[in-house]
Amino acid sequence: MNLQNKTIVLTGASGGIGQAMAHELANNGARLILVGRNTGKLSSLASSLSGEHLFIAADLSSDDGRKQLFDYCSSNGPINLLINNAGVSAFEMIEDQSDSDIAKLLSINLTAPILVTKRLLPLLQSSADGGVVNVGSTFGAIGYPGFSTYCASKFGLRGYSEALRRELSDSGLQVFYLAPRATNTAINSSRVANLNSELGNTVDEPIIAAKALIRQLQKNSLNCYIGWPEKFFARFNGLLPMLVDASLRKQLPVIRRLAKTHKD
Ligand SMILES: NC(=O)c1ccc[n+]([C@@H]2O[C@H](COP(=O)([O-])OP(=O)(O)OC[C@H]3O[C@@H](n4cnc5c(N)ncnc54)[C@H](OP(=O)(O)O)[C@@H]3O)[C@@H](O)[C@H]2O)c1
Repeated sequence: MNLQNKTIVLTGASGGIGQAMAHELANNGARLILVGRNTGKLSSLASSLSGEHLFIAADLSSDDGRKQLFDYCSSNGPINLLINNAGVSAFEMIEDQSDSDIAKLLSINLTAPILVTKRLLPLLQSSADGGVVNVGSTFGAIGYPGFSTYCASKFGLRGYSEALRRELSDSGLQVFYLAPRATNTAINSSRVANLNSELGNTVDEPIIAAKALIRQLQKNSLNCYIGWPEKFFARFNGLLPMLVDASLRKQLPVIRRLAKTHKD
């Protein structure tokens, strides 16, 4: 996909990975519709990018917010690409998560991308060279203790991406799935930072995910998993999950201790 002059809707644009993606996409000639909930953040991001860009504040977990986004895109369309990047996370053992927090996480990470895609599809279909990118996670392929609800949302998003890709395979639209590994952004609490440091996990800067996105689109690679050994573990977990069970069982005491330390 050539990004020059493409109109791209980027959700989660005000976040760590979103901002880095916005800069890389703008540097490659795309015209962006930046989406988040904070008008001030979106406005200063738009003015820091090369080229002219639009932005809209909308809560994508609500029907009103998704309608506002649709109306805004309709009056500024057609659009070529939708990047479903907005997301939240939770590092908690399941007994410590409230029912409402679980429902909220699933609504933002899974229901919202499905419903936003459904709403914007008619606008995407009117463009000759278009598609959808769903931003998943390594945790969309490896079930990880302390992140059960987040994993459920990202496994779901990966399944949705695969099914939608097949459903749209005669439409000219492409469906991409991008899976970052741990990345240094505000989505991760200091307890998650401590977990990564105690377990020796590599933590990327957001620019790594942003550059991976550009390469993925330019090469038309439908699935992209960032980082070794994460790429390997994702496949290994699919083939021999009982070996991954044993290795994560050894990490469980550290995971449980940090998940249960005082929340930030
Ligand atoms: N960082 C990591 O370690 C990591 C690893 C793998 C995958 N990912 C995935 O990468 C994506 C981006 O995460 P990030 O690390 O950049 O997180 P982040 O810095 O916390 O940014 C999250 C973004 O999502 C937006 N958002 C959250 N709830 C929303 C809602 N209800 N409606 C509209 N927008 C909403 C936020 O907007 P506001 O400014 O309005 O809050 C913000 O722009 C997520 O899907 C995440 O799951 C992250």
